[in-house]
Amino acid sequence: MQEFHFYLPTEIIFGKDKELQTGREVSRHGSKRVLLVYGGRSAEKSGLLDRIRKSLEEERIFYAEWGGVQPNPRLNHAQAGTDLAVRENVDFILAVGGGSVIDTAKAISHGAANPGAKLWDIWTGKVKLTKSLPVGVILTIAAAGSETSDSAVLTNTEIGKKAGLSTPLNRPVFAVMNPELTYTLPPYQIACGIADIMMHTLERYFIPDQKNQMTDEIAEGLLRTVIKNGRTAMKDSHDYDAMSEIMWCGSLSHNDLTGLGRPKDFSVHKLGHALGARFDCAHGASLTAVWGSWAEYVYKNDIKRFCHYGEKVFGLDGEVCEQNARAAIQATTDYFREIGMPVSLSELGIGIQEEGVLRELAQDATRGDSVELSFIRKLKAEDVYQIFRMANH
Ligand code: NZQ
Ligand code: ZN
Repeated sequence: MQEFHFYLPTEIIFGKDKELQTGREVSRHGSKRVLLVYGGRSAEKSGLLDRIRKSLEEERIFYAEWGGVQPNPRLNHAQAGTDLAVRENVDFILAVGGGSVIDTAKAISHGAANPGAKLWDIWTGKVKLTKSLPVGVILTIAAAGSETSDSAVLTNTEIGKKAGLSTPLNRPVFAVMNPELTYTLPPYQIACGIADIMMHTLERYFIPDQKNQMTDEIAEGLLRTVIKNGRTAMKDSHDYDAMSEIMWCGSLSHNDLTGLGRPKDFSVHKLGHALGARFDCAHGASLTAVWGSWAEYVYKNDIKRFCHYGEKVFGLDGEVCEQNARAAIQATTDYFREIGMPVSLSELGIGIQEEGVLRELAQDATRGDSVELSFIRKLKAEDVYQIFRMANH
Protein backbone atom coordinates (compact mmCIF):
# COMPACT_ATOMS: atom_id res chain seq x y z
CA MET A 1 0.00 0.00 0.00
CA GLN A 2 1.30 3.43 -0.88
CA GLU A 3 1.63 6.24 1.66
CA PHE A 4 -1.08 8.81 2.10
CA HIS A 5 -2.24 11.63 4.38
CA PHE A 6 -5.98 11.66 5.00
CA TYR A 7 -7.62 14.41 7.02
CA LEU A 8 -11.40 14.64 7.18
CA PRO A 9 -12.65 16.95 9.94
CA THR A 10 -16.23 17.32 8.66
CA GLU A 11 -18.92 15.96 10.96
CA ILE A 12 -21.63 14.19 8.96
CA ILE A 13 -25.16 14.46 10.31
CA PHE A 14 -27.21 12.17 8.07
CA GLY A 15 -30.93 11.41 8.06
CA LYS A 16 -34.50 12.69 7.97
CA ASP A 17 -35.24 16.07 9.62
CA LYS A 18 -31.61 16.55 10.67
CA GLU A 19 -31.69 20.15 9.45
CA LEU A 20 -33.87 20.95 12.49
CA GLN A 21 -30.77 20.72 14.69
CA THR A 22 -28.77 23.25 12.66
CA GLY A 23 -28.94 25.96 15.34
CA ARG A 24 -27.62 23.54 17.95
CA GLU A 25 -24.74 22.52 15.69
CA VAL A 26 -23.76 26.14 15.09
CA SER A 27 -23.95 26.80 18.87
CA ARG A 28 -21.73 23.81 19.54
CA HIS A 29 -19.06 25.54 17.50
CA GLY A 30 -19.35 28.55 19.80
CA SER A 31 -20.71 30.79 17.05
CA LYS A 32 -23.29 33.51 17.62
CA ARG A 33 -23.36 35.48 14.37
CA VAL A 34 -24.08 33.64 11.13
CA LEU A 35 -24.15 34.52 7.44
CA LEU A 36 -26.80 32.34 5.81
CA VAL A 37 -25.83 31.70 2.16
CA TYR A 38 -28.25 30.22 -0.38
CA GLY A 39 -29.05 30.09 -4.10
CA GLY A 40 -32.09 30.93 -6.18
CA ARG A 41 -35.65 30.00 -5.23
CA SER A 42 -35.50 26.29 -4.42
CA ALA A 43 -34.69 26.41 -0.68
CA GLU A 44 -37.17 29.25 -0.05
CA LYS A 45 -39.93 27.52 -2.01
CA SER A 46 -39.56 24.19 -0.23
CA GLY A 47 -39.75 25.85 3.20
CA LEU A 48 -36.23 24.68 4.06
CA LEU A 49 -34.88 28.18 4.64
CA ASP A 50 -37.66 28.97 7.09
CA ARG A 51 -36.85 25.83 9.05
CA ILE A 52 -33.19 26.85 9.21
CA ARG A 53 -34.05 30.42 10.26
CA LYS A 54 -36.28 29.07 13.03
CA SER A 55 -33.62 26.68 14.21
CA LEU A 56 -31.10 29.54 14.48
CA GLU A 57 -33.61 31.76 16.27
CA GLU A 58 -34.33 29.02 18.81
CA GLU A 59 -30.64 29.13 19.75
CA ARG A 60 -30.66 32.97 19.79
CA ILE A 61 -28.18 33.11 16.97
CA PHE A 62 -28.06 36.32 14.94
CA TYR A 63 -28.09 35.81 11.17
CA ALA A 64 -27.68 37.95 8.09
CA GLU A 65 -28.63 36.55 4.67
CA TRP A 66 -26.82 36.32 1.34
CA GLY A 67 -28.97 34.66 -1.33
CA GLY A 68 -28.89 34.65 -5.11
CA VAL A 69 -25.91 32.33 -5.68
CA GLN A 70 -26.05 31.12 -9.29
CA PRO A 71 -24.79 27.79 -10.64
CA ASN A 72 -21.14 28.22 -11.69
CA PRO A 73 -20.90 30.73 -8.82
CA ARG A 74 -19.51 34.14 -9.62
CA LEU A 75 -16.48 35.69 -7.99
CA ASN A 76 -18.08 39.15 -7.72
CA HIS A 77 -21.15 37.77 -5.94
CA ALA A 78 -18.91 35.97 -3.44
CA GLN A 79 -16.85 39.16 -3.02
CA ALA A 80 -19.97 41.19 -2.23
CA GLY A 81 -21.05 38.49 0.23
CA THR A 82 -17.64 38.78 1.88
CA ASP A 83 -18.13 42.51 2.32
CA LEU A 84 -21.48 41.83 4.01
CA ALA A 85 -19.93 39.19 6.28
CA VAL A 86 -17.26 41.68 7.37
CA ARG A 87 -19.84 44.47 7.92
CA GLU A 88 -22.04 42.18 10.01
CA ASN A 89 -19.04 40.82 11.91
CA VAL A 90 -20.21 37.21 11.50
CA ASP A 91 -18.23 34.34 12.98
CA PHE A 92 -19.79 31.44 11.00
CA ILE A 93 -20.90 30.87 7.38
CA LEU A 94 -23.86 28.54 6.83
CA ALA A 95 -24.45 27.21 3.30
CA VAL A 96 -27.92 25.94 2.36
CA GLY A 97 -27.71 24.41 -1.12
CA GLY A 98 -25.42 22.58 -3.50
CA GLY A 99 -21.86 22.97 -4.73
CA SER A 100 -22.36 26.52 -5.97
CA VAL A 101 -23.73 27.75 -2.65
CA ILE A 102 -21.18 25.82 -0.61
CA ASP A 103 -18.27 27.09 -2.71
CA THR A 104 -19.51 30.66 -2.34
CA ALA A 105 -19.78 30.12 1.42
CA LYS A 106 -16.21 28.78 1.49
CA ALA A 107 -14.97 31.80 -0.46
CA ILE A 108 -16.77 34.18 1.91
CA SER A 109 -15.31 32.33 4.90
CA HIS A 110 -11.80 32.98 3.56
CA GLY A 111 -12.49 36.59 2.61
CA ALA A 112 -14.18 37.43 5.91
CA ALA A 113 -11.28 36.03 7.94
CA ASN A 114 -8.83 38.08 5.86
CA PRO A 115 -10.52 41.46 5.44
CA GLY A 116 -8.84 43.59 2.79
CA ALA A 117 -7.63 40.61 0.76
CA LYS A 118 -9.30 40.20 -2.63
CA LEU A 119 -10.85 36.77 -3.17
CA TRP A 120 -9.22 36.32 -6.59
CA ASP A 121 -5.80 37.02 -5.02
CA ILE A 122 -6.52 34.19 -2.58
CA TRP A 123 -7.66 32.01 -5.50
CA THR A 124 -4.54 32.65 -7.56
CA GLY A 125 -2.20 32.18 -4.60
CA LYS A 126 -1.11 35.84 -4.48
CA VAL A 127 -2.43 36.00 -0.92
CA LYS A 128 -1.46 33.00 1.18
CA LEU A 129 -4.40 31.62 3.13
CA THR A 130 -3.68 30.76 6.76
CA LYS A 131 -7.04 31.29 8.44
CA SER A 132 -10.71 31.11 7.67
CA LEU A 133 -14.14 31.19 9.35
CA PRO A 134 -15.92 27.88 9.96
CA VAL A 135 -18.45 26.76 7.35
CA GLY A 136 -21.47 24.52 8.00
CA VAL A 137 -23.54 22.95 5.23
CA ILE A 138 -27.16 21.93 4.75
CA LEU A 139 -26.92 19.90 1.55
CA THR A 140 -29.77 20.00 -0.98
CA ILE A 141 -28.24 18.16 -3.96
CA ALA A 142 -25.91 15.17 -4.20
CA ALA A 143 -23.31 16.16 -6.76
CA ALA A 144 -20.19 18.27 -6.23
CA GLY A 145 -19.16 16.71 -2.92
CA SER A 146 -18.18 20.16 -1.69
CA GLU A 147 -19.82 19.38 1.67
CA THR A 148 -16.71 17.41 2.65
CA SER A 149 -14.14 18.34 -0.01
CA ASP A 150 -11.07 20.50 0.35
CA SER A 151 -11.85 22.52 -2.76
CA ALA A 152 -14.02 25.39 -3.93
CA VAL A 153 -14.61 26.61 -7.48
CA LEU A 154 -15.42 30.16 -8.62
CA THR A 155 -15.97 31.76 -12.01
CA ASN A 156 -14.31 35.09 -12.69
CA THR A 157 -16.61 36.47 -15.39
CA GLU A 158 -14.34 39.48 -16.06
CA ILE A 159 -11.60 37.27 -17.45
CA GLY A 160 -13.80 34.28 -18.39
CA LYS A 161 -12.01 31.79 -16.12
CA LYS A 162 -13.38 29.13 -13.80
CA ALA A 163 -10.85 27.96 -11.23
CA GLY A 164 -10.64 25.90 -8.07
CA LEU A 165 -8.84 26.50 -4.80
CA SER A 166 -7.66 23.48 -2.81
CA THR A 167 -6.85 23.90 0.86
CA PRO A 168 -7.63 21.99 4.07
CA LEU A 169 -9.33 25.23 5.20
CA ASN A 170 -12.07 24.43 2.67
CA ARG A 171 -13.36 21.46 4.67
CA PRO A 172 -16.67 22.37 6.32
CA VAL A 173 -17.00 21.73 10.07
CA PHE A 174 -20.31 19.93 9.61
CA ALA A 175 -22.57 18.74 6.83
CA VAL A 176 -26.24 18.04 7.41
CA MET A 177 -27.48 15.50 4.87
CA ASN A 178 -31.17 14.78 4.72
CA PRO A 179 -31.91 12.89 1.48
CA GLU A 180 -35.52 14.12 1.59
CA LEU A 181 -34.21 17.63 0.85
CA THR A 182 -33.25 16.38 -2.63
CA TYR A 183 -36.79 15.23 -3.55
CA THR A 184 -37.53 18.58 -5.23
CA LEU A 185 -34.65 18.28 -7.69
CA PRO A 186 -35.52 18.24 -11.40
CA PRO A 187 -34.36 15.03 -13.18
CA TYR A 188 -31.69 16.92 -15.13
CA GLN A 189 -30.01 18.09 -11.90
CA ILE A 190 -30.21 14.59 -10.39
CA ALA A 191 -28.47 13.26 -13.51
CA CYS A 192 -25.83 16.02 -13.44
CA GLY A 193 -25.14 15.04 -9.83
CA ILE A 194 -24.80 11.32 -10.65
CA ALA A 195 -22.42 12.22 -13.47
CA ASP A 196 -20.27 14.43 -11.24
CA ILE A 197 -20.11 11.77 -8.52
CA MET A 198 -18.97 9.18 -11.08
CA MET A 199 -16.44 11.59 -12.50
CA HIS A 200 -14.89 12.41 -9.11
CA THR A 201 -14.26 8.70 -8.72
CA LEU A 202 -13.09 8.07 -12.29
CA GLU A 203 -10.67 11.01 -12.20
CA ARG A 204 -8.94 9.29 -9.26
CA TYR A 205 -9.17 5.81 -10.78
CA PHE A 206 -7.47 6.20 -14.16
CA ILE A 207 -4.05 6.87 -12.67
CA PRO A 208 -0.86 4.84 -13.27
CA ASP A 209 -0.35 4.29 -9.49
CA GLN A 210 -2.70 1.35 -8.96
CA LYS A 211 -1.25 -0.30 -5.90
CA ASN A 212 -3.87 0.49 -3.25
CA GLN A 213 -6.31 -2.39 -3.59
CA MET A 214 -8.66 -1.09 -0.88
CA THR A 215 -8.84 2.27 -2.64
CA ASP A 216 -9.77 0.48 -5.87
CA GLU A 217 -12.46 -1.60 -4.17
CA ILE A 218 -14.01 1.51 -2.58
CA ALA A 219 -14.01 3.29 -5.94
CA GLU A 220 -15.50 0.35 -7.83
CA GLY A 221 -18.15 -0.26 -5.14
CA LEU A 222 -19.06 3.41 -5.17
CA LEU A 223 -19.41 3.43 -8.96
CA ARG A 224 -21.63 0.34 -8.95
CA THR A 225 -23.76 1.84 -6.18
CA VAL A 226 -24.26 5.21 -7.81
CA ILE A 227 -24.98 3.66 -11.24
CA LYS A 228 -27.61 1.29 -9.79
CA ASN A 229 -29.31 3.81 -7.51
CA GLY A 230 -29.03 6.47 -10.19
CA ARG A 231 -31.35 4.40 -12.36
CA THR A 232 -33.91 4.21 -9.55
CA ALA A 233 -33.60 7.91 -8.72
CA MET A 234 -34.15 8.92 -12.34
CA LYS A 235 -37.49 7.10 -12.23
CA ASP A 236 -38.52 8.27 -8.76
CA SER A 237 -36.83 11.19 -7.02
CA HIS A 238 -38.84 10.38 -3.85
CA ASP A 239 -37.18 7.00 -3.36
CA TYR A 240 -35.54 7.58 0.03
CA ASP A 241 -33.13 4.66 -0.20
CA ALA A 242 -31.87 5.55 -3.67
CA MET A 243 -31.49 9.25 -2.84
CA SER A 244 -29.67 8.30 0.39
CA GLU A 245 -27.17 6.09 -1.43
CA ILE A 246 -26.49 8.77 -4.02
CA MET A 247 -26.08 11.44 -1.36
CA TRP A 248 -23.56 9.38 0.59
CA CYS A 249 -21.73 8.42 -2.62
CA GLY A 250 -21.48 12.12 -3.45
CA SER A 251 -19.56 12.89 -0.28
CA LEU A 252 -17.36 9.81 -0.39
CA SER A 253 -16.50 10.34 -4.05
CA HIS A 254 -14.85 13.68 -3.40
CA ASN A 255 -13.48 13.61 0.14
CA ASP A 256 -10.34 11.84 -1.19
CA LEU A 257 -11.27 8.36 0.11
CA THR A 258 -11.65 7.02 -3.44
CA GLY A 259 -8.13 8.09 -4.37
CA LEU A 260 -6.02 7.43 -1.29
CA GLY A 261 -2.38 6.79 -2.07
CA ARG A 262 -2.39 8.19 -5.57
CA PRO A 263 -2.53 11.60 -7.22
CA LYS A 264 -5.75 13.09 -8.59
CA ASP A 265 -6.00 13.51 -12.33
CA PHE A 266 -8.97 15.86 -12.82
CA SER A 267 -8.07 16.54 -16.45
CA VAL A 268 -11.68 16.01 -17.57
CA HIS A 269 -12.67 18.58 -14.94
CA LYS A 270 -10.22 21.05 -16.50
CA LEU A 271 -11.96 20.57 -19.86
CA GLY A 272 -15.35 20.85 -18.17
CA HIS A 273 -14.39 24.06 -16.36
CA ALA A 274 -13.26 25.60 -19.66
CA LEU A 275 -16.72 24.77 -21.10
CA GLY A 276 -18.49 25.98 -17.94
CA ALA A 277 -16.67 29.33 -17.93
CA ARG A 278 -17.46 29.96 -21.61
CA PHE A 279 -20.98 28.55 -21.97
CA ASP A 280 -22.29 28.56 -18.36
CA CYS A 281 -23.42 24.94 -18.72
CA ALA A 282 -24.22 22.62 -15.80
CA HIS A 283 -21.03 21.16 -14.32
CA GLY A 284 -21.93 17.43 -14.49
CA ALA A 285 -23.09 17.76 -18.10
CA SER A 286 -19.89 19.58 -19.10
CA LEU A 287 -17.95 16.49 -17.93
CA THR A 288 -19.98 13.75 -19.61
CA ALA A 289 -19.88 15.76 -22.87
CA VAL A 290 -16.12 15.14 -23.11
CA TRP A 291 -15.36 12.07 -20.96
CA GLY A 292 -15.89 9.52 -23.75
CA SER A 293 -13.60 11.47 -26.10
CA TRP A 294 -10.96 11.75 -23.36
CA ALA A 295 -11.18 8.00 -22.69
CA GLU A 296 -10.90 7.14 -26.40
CA TYR A 297 -7.85 9.37 -26.65
CA VAL A 298 -5.95 7.94 -23.66
CA TYR A 299 -7.08 4.33 -23.12
CA LYS A 300 -4.44 2.67 -25.31
CA ASN A 301 -1.78 3.78 -22.82
CA ASP A 302 -3.39 1.62 -20.12
CA ILE A 303 -5.70 -0.91 -21.74
CA LYS A 304 -5.47 -3.19 -18.71
CA ARG A 305 -6.88 -0.55 -16.39
CA PHE A 306 -9.87 0.17 -18.61
CA CYS A 307 -10.41 -3.57 -18.98
CA HIS A 308 -10.29 -4.05 -15.18
CA TYR A 309 -12.75 -1.16 -14.76
CA GLY A 310 -15.15 -2.80 -17.21
CA GLU A 311 -14.93 -6.08 -15.36
CA LYS A 312 -15.43 -4.67 -11.85
CA VAL A 313 -18.00 -1.98 -12.58
CA PHE A 314 -19.99 -3.37 -15.52
CA GLY A 315 -19.30 -7.10 -15.18
CA LEU A 316 -17.68 -7.30 -18.65
CA ASP A 317 -15.86 -10.59 -19.00
CA GLY A 318 -14.84 -10.88 -22.64
CA GLU A 319 -11.63 -12.74 -23.42
CA VAL A 320 -9.85 -9.95 -25.29
CA CYS A 321 -8.65 -7.21 -22.95
CA GLU A 322 -8.71 -4.42 -25.53
CA GLN A 323 -12.28 -5.26 -26.52
CA ASN A 324 -13.30 -5.13 -22.87
CA ALA A 325 -11.59 -1.78 -22.47
CA ARG A 326 -13.50 -0.35 -25.42
CA ALA A 327 -16.74 -1.93 -24.20
CA ALA A 328 -16.17 -0.31 -20.77
CA ILE A 329 -15.92 3.13 -22.36
CA GLN A 330 -19.06 2.38 -24.37
CA ALA A 331 -20.93 1.14 -21.28
CA THR A 332 -20.05 4.36 -19.45
CA THR A 333 -21.21 6.66 -22.23
CA ASP A 334 -24.34 4.51 -22.73
CA TYR A 335 -25.15 5.03 -19.06
CA PHE A 336 -24.67 8.78 -19.37
CA ARG A 337 -27.10 8.77 -22.30
CA GLU A 338 -29.55 6.57 -20.39
CA ILE A 339 -29.81 9.16 -17.58
CA GLY A 340 -30.12 12.00 -20.08
CA MET A 341 -26.58 13.36 -19.94
CA PRO A 342 -24.83 14.65 -23.07
CA VAL A 343 -21.89 12.80 -24.61
CA SER A 344 -20.93 15.45 -27.18
CA LEU A 345 -20.80 19.23 -27.45
CA SER A 346 -24.00 19.44 -29.47
CA GLU A 347 -25.83 17.26 -26.91
CA LEU A 348 -24.52 19.68 -24.26
CA GLY A 349 -26.65 22.25 -26.03
CA ILE A 350 -23.86 24.55 -27.20
CA GLY A 351 -23.91 23.45 -30.84
CA ILE A 352 -20.97 22.49 -33.05
CA GLN A 353 -18.03 24.78 -32.33
CA GLU A 354 -15.57 26.37 -34.75
CA GLU A 355 -11.95 25.22 -34.73
CA GLY A 356 -10.81 28.55 -33.24
CA VAL A 357 -13.13 28.13 -30.26
CA LEU A 358 -11.89 24.58 -29.67
CA ARG A 359 -8.30 25.87 -29.66
CA GLU A 360 -9.23 28.59 -27.15
CA LEU A 361 -10.94 26.03 -24.93
CA ALA A 362 -7.78 23.88 -25.05
CA GLN A 363 -5.69 26.91 -24.07
CA ASP A 364 -8.06 27.66 -21.16
CA ALA A 365 -7.98 24.05 -19.93
CA THR A 366 -4.16 23.96 -19.97
CA ARG A 367 -3.62 27.52 -18.69
CA GLY A 368 -2.17 28.62 -21.99
CA ASP A 369 -0.36 25.30 -22.58
CA SER A 370 1.65 25.84 -19.38
CA VAL A 371 0.47 22.65 -17.63
CA GLU A 372 0.20 19.05 -18.82
CA LEU A 373 -3.05 17.25 -18.00
CA SER A 374 -3.71 13.58 -17.33
CA PHE A 375 -1.39 10.86 -16.10
CA ILE A 376 -2.15 7.85 -18.27
CA ARG A 377 -1.29 9.91 -21.32
CA LYS A 378 0.17 13.38 -20.86
CA LEU A 379 -1.97 16.00 -22.55
CA LYS A 380 -0.67 19.28 -23.94
CA ALA A 381 -2.95 21.94 -25.40
CA GLU A 382 -2.75 20.25 -28.83
CA ASP A 383 -4.00 16.94 -27.33
CA VAL A 384 -6.81 18.69 -25.49
CA TYR A 385 -7.79 20.39 -28.72
CA GLN A 386 -7.95 16.94 -30.39
CA ILE A 387 -10.22 15.70 -27.58
CA PHE A 388 -12.53 18.69 -27.98
CA ARG A 389 -12.58 17.95 -31.75
CA MET A 390 -13.60 14.35 -31.07
CA ALA A 391 -16.47 15.63 -28.88
CA ASN A 392 -17.47 18.27 -31.43
CA HIS A 393 -20.46 16.59 -33.04
O1 NZQ B 1 -30.26 28.00 -6.83
P1 NZQ B 1 -31.34 27.05 -6.51
O2 NZQ B 1 -32.68 27.60 -6.65
O3 NZQ B 1 -31.13 26.37 -5.18
O4 NZQ B 1 -31.28 25.89 -7.64
C1 NZQ B 1 -30.20 24.98 -7.76
C2 NZQ B 1 -29.42 25.17 -9.05
O5 NZQ B 1 -30.22 25.73 -10.05
C3 NZQ B 1 -30.78 23.60 -7.94
N1 NZQ B 1 -31.05 22.90 -6.68
C4 NZQ B 1 -30.19 22.58 -5.70
N2 NZQ B 1 -30.81 21.88 -4.75
C5 NZQ B 1 -32.10 21.78 -5.14
C6 NZQ B 1 -32.26 22.44 -6.37
N3 NZQ B 1 -33.44 22.50 -7.01
C7 NZQ B 1 -34.50 21.91 -6.44
N4 NZQ B 1 -34.41 21.22 -5.26
C8 NZQ B 1 -33.24 21.14 -4.60
N5 NZQ B 1 -33.17 20.41 -3.46
O6 NZQ B 1 -29.78 22.88 -8.64
C9 NZQ B 1 -29.09 23.76 -9.49
C10 NZQ B 1 -27.62 23.43 -9.42
O7 NZQ B 1 -27.09 23.75 -8.16
P2 NZQ B 1 -25.51 23.75 -7.95
O8 NZQ B 1 -25.23 24.11 -6.55
O9 NZQ B 1 -24.87 24.56 -9.02
O10 NZQ B 1 -25.17 22.21 -8.22
P3 NZQ B 1 -23.92 21.33 -7.87
O11 NZQ B 1 -24.01 20.82 -6.49
O12 NZQ B 1 -23.79 20.40 -8.98
O13 NZQ B 1 -22.67 22.34 -7.87
C11 NZQ B 1 -22.00 22.67 -9.06
C12 NZQ B 1 -20.88 23.63 -8.76
O14 NZQ B 1 -19.91 23.00 -7.89
C13 NZQ B 1 -18.61 23.06 -8.51
C14 NZQ B 1 -18.96 23.03 -9.98
O15 NZQ B 1 -17.88 23.45 -10.79
C15 NZQ B 1 -20.13 23.99 -10.05
O16 NZQ B 1 -19.70 25.33 -10.02
N6 NZQ B 1 -17.79 21.96 -8.01
C16 NZQ B 1 -17.33 22.07 -6.77
C17 NZQ B 1 -16.49 21.11 -6.22
C18 NZQ B 1 -15.96 21.25 -4.86
N7 NZQ B 1 -16.12 22.39 -4.24
O17 NZQ B 1 -15.34 20.32 -4.32
C19 NZQ B 1 -16.05 19.93 -6.99
C20 NZQ B 1 -16.81 19.71 -8.25
O18 NZQ B 1 -15.99 18.99 -9.14
C21 NZQ B 1 -17.30 20.95 -8.92
O19 NZQ B 1 -16.28 21.54 -9.72
ZN1 ZN C 1 -16.99 17.77 -10.37
